[in-house]
Amino acid sequence: MRVLFVCLGNICRSPTAEGVFRAAVERSEWAGRVEVDSAGCAGYHTGDPPDPRSQQAAKNRGIDLSEQRARQVRPDDFGHFDYILCADFQNLADLEEVRDRYEATGASSKAKLDLFLRQAKIETEEIPDPYYGGPRGFDHVLDLCERASLELLASWAPPTS
Ligand code: 4NP
Repeated sequence: MRVLFVCLGNICRSPTAEGVFRAAVERSEWAGRVEVDSAGCAGYHTGDPPDPRSQQAAKNRGIDLSEQRARQVRPDDFGHFDYILCADFQNLADLEEVRDRYEATGASSKAKLDLFLRQAKIETEEIPDPYYGGPRGFDHVLDLCERASLELLASWAPPTS
């Protein structure tokens, strides 16, 4: 199984989702069987580590984001990942365009594209962007990602073989 998390800059929300989901996978029967990555719709933070505020908030919960580096989403991500899960509706619209570019080459997308929280059936749909807010926004992102990660894993049929 391959899962890609996507937000705008790939320095706050999607790196948090990547780190939280990877930790949840490793505590589950899916351990060692899931490739987890993240990317941004925009490329202006390419190569940057996650925002220090995201790193600190995750570290407070035992999750290390420091090795991650931002990258922009690529059309061929739609041929590689089983799930492409994004933070908000603007990300979703941007990703639909990237998917259209991929399919315009004659390839077919295999990825299930959705909002992360909607796919996990959490009662809210968007992960609010914490970039311009205070530290509580980063904790809220972690709360949502932790709940959604457990719900998403619980919704999958057990791994075979
Ligand atoms: P993210 O947050 O999409 O959760 O990584 C943002 C990071 C950077 C910017 C906007 C949102 N920015 O405008 O630089």
